[in-house]
Amino acid sequence: MYIFEFGFDVAEKLKKLEEKNGNFGVKKGEILLKKFPDGEFYARVIGNIENENCVVVKSIYNSDELVKTILILDAVKRSKAKSIMLVAPYLTYMRQDKIFLDGEALSAEVVLKNLKNYVDKIFLINSHIFRESGEKTCYGIKIYNIDAFSEIAKYFKNLKNPKIISPDEGASDMAKKCAKILKCESDYLIKKRDMVTGKIVTADKNLYVEGKDVLISDDIISSGGTMIEALKVIKKQNPASINLACVHGVFCDAENFLMLRILADEVVATNSIPNKVGNIDLSNLIAEELVKNLIKK
Ligand code: R5P
Repeated sequence: MYIFEFGFDVAEKLKKLEEKNGNFGVKKGEILLKKFPDGEFYARVIGNIENENCVVVKSIYNSDELVKTILILDAVKRSKAKSIMLVAPYLTYMRQDKIFLDGEALSAEVVLKNLKNYVDKIFLINSHIFRESGEKTCYGIKIYNIDAFSEIAKYFKNLKNPKIISPDEGASDMAKKCAKILKCESDYLIKKRDMVTGKIVTADKNLYVEGKDVLISDDIISSGGTMIEALKVIKKQNPASINLACVHGVFCDAENFLMLRILADEVVATNSIPNKVGNIDLSNLIAEELVKNLIKK
């Protein structure tokens, strides 16, 4: 089995897991990636992968990375791989997974249907297209959604007096999971977003966090607006510390990102997207979930 990975260390972790779970014949695949002077990408598989099972591990965090990944997948497919699994720790364009206003494009469907041309299965991490972890078929493609909140909880295992808060009700189940691992309570805030302007307002709510080490956890921080609103409500309640964590750190608004880092004691994300605070490595979790799938096969 060939692993083509970009920014992760899954092959090495898989080799370690092979000792306990049987031999998957893990080898590192090699791809030549280039950029032409006009900015177009080029991909070529080096070596013979004919009739081999292949796994591509690559975060797809913007439009360029999406094109690059499609070229990588095409190169692997043309090299006659037996099967292709794509692990996309972040997959861009998944947030528009419903039509909210007449006339809109459905970006999640567009991207997934395109990837379906190349892969047998896609592994995603806390994807916005469905909250639950596990396997589901979406637009005719098998998707295995992995929950990384366990990794966030492990990262904060030394918090003295933790309480987990989710910045909206949608993420409250994930906060509960973190709370279960850290053996503490959780609660959630009520957030409303104006569908047209995108403006977020979070209502005041007593969360009983005085003297607590608050961990505000969410699946994604994009502009940071949601976290800023949550911070405003929580700061007034005199917690001992406020820590912010998310699986996907997009941080597309530099001013808000700076503000979050000033206002909170710690801001951390997984490495699903390259950024300054992506200190929670997902390689081990990905390897473990791949093994579960390989054993099932
Ligand atoms: C919303 O449903 C998500 O869980 C996040 O709370 C949201 O997408 C974060 O976006 P932003 O950082 O732009 O407020």
